[in-house]
Parts: sequence; structure tokens; C-alpha cells
Amino acid sequence: MDRLRIVGGKPLIGEVEISGAKNAALPILFASILSSEKSVIRNIPLLADINTTLKVLDSLGLKTLFKLENHTIEIDGSTLNSHEAPYELVRTMRASVLVLGPLLARRKIARVSLPGGCAIGARPVNFHLEALEKMGAVFNIEAGYIDGAAPNGLKGSKIEFPFPSVGATENILMASVLAEGNTRIENAACEPEIVDLAIALRSMGAKISGEGTPIIEVEGVKALHGMNHSVAPDRIEAATYLCAGLITKGKVTVTGINENFMKSPLSLLKESGALISSTANSITAEYVKPLLPLRITTEPFPGFPTDMQAQFMALLTQANGESVISETIFENRFMHVPELTRLGAKIDIKGNEATVKGPVSLSGAIVMATDLRASASLIIAGLIAKGETIIRRIYHLDRGYEHIEQKLIKLGAEIYREHEK
Ligand code: EPZ
Repeated sequence: MDRLRIVGGKPLIGEVEISGAKNAALPILFASILSSEKSVIRNIPLLADINTTLKVLDSLGLKTLFKLENHTIEIDGSTLNSHEAPYELVRTMRASVLVLGPLLARRKIARVSLPGGCAIGARPVNFHLEALEKMGAVFNIEAGYIDGAAPNGLKGSKIEFPFPSVGATENILMASVLAEGNTRIENAACEPEIVDLAIALRSMGAKISGEGTPIIEVEGVKALHGMNHSVAPDRIEAATYLCAGLITKGKVTVTGINENFMKSPLSLLKESGALISSTANSITAEYVKPLLPLRITTEPFPGFPTDMQAQFMALLTQANGESVISETIFENRFMHVPELTRLGAKIDIKGNEATVKGPVSLSGAIVMATDLRASASLIIAGLIAKGETIIRRIYHLDRGYEHIEQKLIKLGAEIYREHEK
């Protein structure tokens, strides 16, 4: 297993190019199942989860070609010859459940391993299944597998989600584009990754309106041609680097992204005292004075994203005062707290609320990554911890951050990837 060794204390200064969004690329790759033609998807991030997704598509018989040098994936939809997403792949990446909608839409049958829980929570898929049942699918769950079938095809329906679930919205969006009749999704997730998926589906000939709002309308069509799409930039990656720059009292510009989909995190950084500026294609965060504490509550988009919670927590260990962070999306997304505490952070947890005291001086230690965004928060803290911080189990990190140590070194960090026997 690999580990990262960080020598803290170097200010981060400079520019970093933001990669394509993992949480847009994954559903968009699964959407290629919907067409028997060739799809071309550009600006794909080089991540472990992308490789896992390609393995799932390969296991379904689709021919995939990943042209790494230009971040492009070509998928031949004509060779689909299976409907099963196996356990050994799904257990490593829960997002594999997103094959359900496309397989039921294209093949009227799907067999997907139940993903199992993960570090941040149980991650049920009941919203996905209930909505697909409304569209005519029937499911049998046994031996850890979801067996789904829609022998008469999926029918357009009115779907109302009890919670604006990102994955469930994506599954239903992909199921509805080939369904017979119209589908109306109410209380749909509004995340930018949903918007990007809708744009990708529209490039295939899908008839969708309302994406990015709580009401999405889809008019089912008979068939879709191949996709031609470039994945939107990763707002979570961008926020991670802006927090890294600020905690080191530096100045970091993220390029290839604009502030459009980052209003909530950027307004909080401004409130905390960071100097934020942006252009059509970049955002800069500059440390100009000691940061003020914040009160943050994670919410569905356009609220503050849960995927930025751990990174902001690390930053707020340096704010002048007590910050309070409430995590309302996942039931167990404070796994980074005990690890940050090992570095000297003073964080109290009561239920879903963490109180972060600052400023505290952090000192390097051996810590363990527990999930993707928790790993990023440990890096952010390690960048200013005195001495050396060793972060173990960084396979979590490689799932969602492309070349993170190279990008940080380019900004001035002293960070090394080491192999751990
Ligand atoms: C997506 O997960 C993202 N993953 C997550 O990012 C992100 O944290 C999450 O959306 C929220 O923004 C991908 O896009 C691949 P949800 P998803 O369905 O779709 C409950 C990362 O770090 N729920 O919006 O699984 C669920 O338990 C990852 O990149 C049900 O109860 O999130 C959770 O409490 C982590 N039943 C809440 O809804 C369901 O059927 C939000 O989940 C579905 C969800």
C-alpha cells in the first residue's frame, strides 16, 4: 500500500489545473450503455474509480478504449452482451449501482450486487428501487444481489423523491430517456453533476428539461445515438486546493473552472476573510489576514456540499475562534476527526455537529485515510503541521484526486509518495 509523507510549513503559491469531475464522469460513462453506437467522452480524470467503471463496462461486454494522454474514453455500445455488475467490482465502488437505470432501459434486465456500506454511511438504494418500480421494474433482492427486470419496458412516470438523492436522480434520469412516455422527477437533486449528465444525454438525442432545478421533465425516445461530451470540471477538487492554499497562508489559483457552481463554499471562504477573485476560467484564493471561524451546515446543492466538509474542517483548525460544522447528509462523515486530533486539532463532536477550536498548532504524526474526502483533509492539515505527517491507506485518495502530489508539489508543497511494505 502507498503512503504520503508531507513536510509541513511550505506556503502554496501558484496555479493548478482542475481535472474533470469524478462525480460527473462516473454516471456519464454508465450512460454510454444506453446507446448501441460509439460514444466519445473527453476531460476524463485519471482516477481509480474511472478504471473501476471501465472494468464494469468491460464486464458488460462493451468495448472501451481509454486514451490516457488526452483524457478521452471511447466506448462501443454495440457489443453489450451482459446485464450483471459483479460484486467484486461493485464493492469497491458504490457508484456501480448507476448501471441499474441504463441496463433496465436498454436490456430490460439488470443484476447488480448490493454495494454494501462504506466509511461514511449505510448508503441505501431504496429511493433508486422505489422509483424504478414506479416505472415498471420489478426487483428481487437475495444473496447480496439486486435482480431487476422490466419485461414490458420502462414506462414514463411521475417520480417524487423523499430526499434529493444525487444517485437516485441520475439512475432515474438515465432510465427515463428511453422509457415509453414522459417522466417528471420532483425533488430531484440539483447538483452540477446532474446538469452535466443531462447535457451528455442530450448529446445522445435525449429530450430533457429542468436539470439543475428540483423538477426535471423527460420525454422518452425510441433510441439514442452515441454520446459526444466533455466532462465538467471538478468543483470538489477545486475547493480542496483553495483550502490547501489558504491553510498555508499562500495564494492558489485553480484553472479550468469558474465560480458558477461554487457560490456556497466561496462565500464562506470570503466570510472567513480570504481574498477571493475569479475570471471566466479560474478562481484565486489568497490569504490576507487571520481567518475567522465559520458556522457551516452541509446541504443538498446549492447549499454547502458534504464533499467539502472534511477539507473545510481542516482549514478551520487555524481560524481565530470556534467553528461549528453540522453534517446533515451522511450519518458517519466525521471519520477524519480522530485523525485530525492526532495532529493536534481540538474538535468536539456532539451527534452530527463538530465544534472546531482554533487556531491550534498542529504537529506531524502518522495518520490513516478512511475515505476519499477525509484523506484530503489530512493532507490539508499535514501541509502546515510541524515536522512530518505520514498518511497511510491513500488508495482512498487515488479514487478521487488525479495526481494530487504532483499538483501540490507544483504549488510548492514538500510531499512524497512512498511504498509501504
Ligand atoms: C453522491 O453520492 C456522490 N457520489 C457523493 O460523493 C456525495 O457525497 C453525495 O452524492 C451527496 O452529494 C457520486 O456522485 C459518485 P445521495 P450518492 O444519494 O448519490 C441517502 C465523494 O466523496 N439515500 O445524494 O450516494 C444517503 O444514505 C462521494 O465523491 C437514501 O437514504 O448520495 C445519504 O444519507 C461521497 N436512500 C443521502 O441520501 C437512497 O436510495 C444522500 O445520498 C439514496 C440515498
